Amino acid sequence: MAQIFKPSANSITQVGLLSVAIGVPTLWLGIAGLSRSPANTKVQVPKNQPVPFSHQHHTWELGIDCRYCHTSVEKSSYAGLPATETCMSCHSQIWTNSPLLEPIRQSYETGMPIQWNLVNKVPDFVHFNHSIHVDRGINCNTCHGAVNQMHITYKGNSFQMAWCLQCHRAPERYLYKDDSASGKGLTPRQQVFNVYWKLQEFGPANLNDQEKDLVRGDYNGAQPWEQDKIAAGKKLVSEYGVKVQQLADCSVCHY
Ligand code: HEC
Ligand code: HEC
Ligand code: HEC
Ligand code: HEC
Ligand code: HEC
Repeated sequence: MAQIFKPSANSITQVGLLSVAIGVPTLWLGIAGLSRSPANTKVQVPKNQPVPFSHQHHTWELGIDCRYCHTSVEKSSYAGLPATETCMSCHSQIWTNSPLLEPIRQSYETGMPIQWNLVNKVPDFVHFNHSIHVDRGINCNTCHGAVNQMHITYKGNSFQMAWCLQCHRAPERYLYKDDSASGKGLTPRQQVFNVYWKLQEFGPANLNDQEKDLVRGDYNGAQPWEQDKIAAGKKLVSEYGVKVQQLADCSVCHY
């Protein structure tokens, strides 16, 4: 069974949010204080894990597809974290004596899942859904930074409201299509994963501008002077049927 995080709805913060909507300032401050706590905003700080798992080793160097481990990322709200069995599909045969893998072997023997420490989290009163973003061709690195180059995973972006809204107010700045030979005929979703494959197969020099920024973890969308990219993005917005008018409504992320 994949380990999937399902934070249960927190009725206190929901009530808080409702009160904010009808204008109770003390609750507003309460939630604001809570959601800006350092634990929530800390970016670029590697998080201690029971096993020092390296995305750089496994995704960039070995070329394992994200979906091999994050099995539900295309289909559900949650990406999901891999079960011990997924690690053991290789590590029952290779690196079998590594002391670093001792917790994995123990977990496999005892059936007790590994407790990974969650790096990214939005508060319970915020709704997020992986599948719809991946379906629109939004790459993991747009939100998570250069995961494929991280030795120990850290948070690539703050995930504060203003950060989400930067894209929800102008998705045309962020949507793009790979027009090269290796991108022809791909669905937006396939394109998301194709970037990692291209990087491994052809090296960074053979990626397009957007993809180069993506794999470096600093893709900030098209800038105001890049009118050609914005025009291309607008075409995709209408092609994919993105509901731009409503995308920044409170009810999209809070309900
Ligand atoms: C071999 C398995 C494996 C593969 C392949 C893999 N991951 Fe992971 N990923 C993990 C494990 C284990 C964790 C939890 C430990 C950690 O945070 O490093 C994780 C954590 C993450 C997190 C942080 C989750 C959190 O706690 O918030 C992100 C984001 C992520 N992976 C993205 C990716 C992306 C993008 C790819 C493909 C480029 C990928 N992963 C490929 C195993 C994998
Ligand atoms: C497809 C095969 C494969 C899978 C699946 C896989 N690994 Fe690995 N892993 C490797 C290989 C190959 C290496 C050696 C990489 C190197 O050092 O170049 C390695 C190395 C490691 C190391 C470093 C060991 C040492 O002593 O240096 C750790 C820790 C590790 N893997 C953890 C994990 C965890 C945790 C998972 C499951 C989330 C996992 N691996 C899944 C193939 C895999
Ligand atoms: C639009 C931004 C965005 C994109 C694109 C995105 N993520 Fe996430 N990811 C998030 C947010 C926000 C969270 C925290 C969600 C929460 O707390 O419910 C998260 C959490 C995670 C987690 C840990 C919790 C979980 O859902 O299991 C993993 C693993 C993860 N992402 C992997 C990926 C992978 C792999 C991809 C690409 C296939 C990806 N993400 C694409 C924003 C994004
Ligand atoms: C890079 C652009 C981008 C970023 C960043 C982003 N989103 Fe989105 N989001 C989109 C697009 C595009 C859609 C698809 C809308 C559509 O097709 O109508 C979407 C859809 C959604 C939906 C589903 C709406 C529905 O109709 O079901 C939710 C919820 C959502 N986003 C929440 C978030 C949250 C929360 C964050 C920040 C943590 C975030 N998004 C960051 C681009 C983005
Ligand atoms: C695209 C998703 C998205 C939309 C749309 C959105 N929010 Fe948020 N909101 C968030 C996220 C993510 C957080 C959590 C921020 C954090 O953890 O710092 C948040 C936090 C909040 C908070 C807590 C205080 C704070 O600033 O951190 C309030 C209040 C709030 N939102 C109200 C609103 C209202 C009112 C609207 C409509 C005008 C709205 N939100 C629209 C994503 C969204």
